[in-house]
Parts: sequence; C-alpha cells; structure tokens
Amino acid sequence: MTDLRWPSAQPTLDASGLTLRPWRPSDADAVYAACQDTEIARWTTVPSPYERAHAESYVGPASTGAWLNKTAANFAVVDPDGTVVGSFGLVRMTPSQGVAEVGYWVAPGARRRGVAVCAAAAVTQWALRDVGFARVEILAAVGNAGSRRVAERIGFTLEGVLRSAGAGRGERLDLAIYSRIATD
Ligand SMILES: CC(C)(COP(=O)(O)OP(=O)(O)OC[C@H]1O[C@@H](n2cnc3c(N)ncnc32)[C@H](O)[C@@H]1OP(=O)(O)O)[C@@H](O)C(=O)NCCC(=O)NCCS
Repeated sequence: MTDLRWPSAQPTLDASGLTLRPWRPSDADAVYAACQDTEIARWTTVPSPYERAHAESYVGPASTGAWLNKTAANFAVVDPDGTVVGSFGLVRMTPSQGVAEVGYWVAPGARRRGVAVCAAAAVTQWALRDVGFARVEILAAVGNAGSRRVAERIGFTLEGVLRSAGAGRGERLDLAIYSRIATD
C-alpha cells in the first residue's frame, strides 16, 4: 500500500513557460477542435469520431470527477497567452500500488516545438516528487515515433514491448512500455 499526497484541489503546474492547469468549461472548443486530428484518433484512446459532447464532458464533469475519485489527473496545457496547446496528465492510476500512466496529446498546430517534452516532464516530476507515486509509465504504440521520442527525451527507460496490448482503430497495437521510478 502506498500513501499518496493527493490534494483536495487540483494544482496548477509551471513547465518552462507553459502552464498546466485544471480544465475549464470554456476549453471545450479547443478540445473539440484538437481531437478531430487523425494522429490523436490513431494513437490515443479518445473517442472517434469525437463529438462536441465528448469535449464538454472532458473539460467538465469527467475530469472533475476523476480528480475527486483519484482515477485520473487531467491537465490543460496552455501557452503564456492562454491558448490551449495540449492535454497531459495521469490517465490510469493504481494508487494502492503507487503506479500511474502518463497520457497526452498536443494540438496539431502546436507540435514540434517542445510542448510534449516540457509538459510530460512536469507531470512526471509532480507525480513522483509531489504526489509520491513510486513508478510512472508511458505506453506508446511501437509505431508512434513521436511519443516514443518524448519518453526517451524525459529520461524514461524502455522496458519492453507489450504485444497486442492496445486496441487501435481497426488494428491491434503492440505497445512499448517505458517507466521512470522515484529513485531514478
Ligand atoms: C507525440 C506528440 C505528443 C509529440 O508532441 P510534440 O509537442 O510535437 O513533441 P516535442 O516537440 O516535445 O518533440 C519531442 C521529440 O519528439 C520528436 N518528434 C515529435 N513528433 C515526432 C514525429 N511525429 N515523428 C518523429 N519524431 C517526432 C521531436 O523531434 C523531438 O525530438 P528531438 O528533441 O530529438 O528533436 C504529438 O505529436 C501528438 O499529440 N501526437 C498524437 C497523440 C499521441 O500520439 N499521443 C501519445 C500517445 S502514447
């Protein structure tokens, strides 16, 4: 059993100029637009087709409830001007074991400028240092070169490949499993 320091209110995190904050209802337009992207549909578990109602739930009751129930921690990543550029957080948690998975997407127009490296590092540091998780995982499809590079850039260790562990759109996916542990 692992004791976690899980605050009652979701915090805001700084990440080298980016801010990770709780989702707000006014973010629904940005999430709806980003999640029309074919790469997000291909590599993540967000619903596809992605409807307006999915976005409204995600930026409201789904994320609020997940925080309260300690099942996930979803953060909006915003630029200094307030533009939503991504979604990062702990998407699958086993608090009793002290283990969580980092999940993410970056909006198509904000890619290839370091958003994922900054935001994923911030979430990982918060989970391991502040909350007290012992282990944080990233599971990326073997063919998802961008996500795998993000895991490598922020110091995760490749442990192997989970065969047919992901349900892609019409195909099974082999998932590369990466981890960082608190003592790394
Ligand atoms: C994968 C993803 C999160 C990367 O976000 P990003 O903000 O563009 O990534 P960064 O700018 O921080 O780049 C990090 C590294 O990955 C590399 N990279 C990014 N996208 C890449 C791609 N499509 N192919 C190969 N390398 C890529 C960058 O060049 C950089 O490596 P470098 O420092 O050696 O040059 C983004 O493309 C995305 O949202 N994809 C769809 C959703 C997804 O795959 N989520 C993860 C599911 S496990």
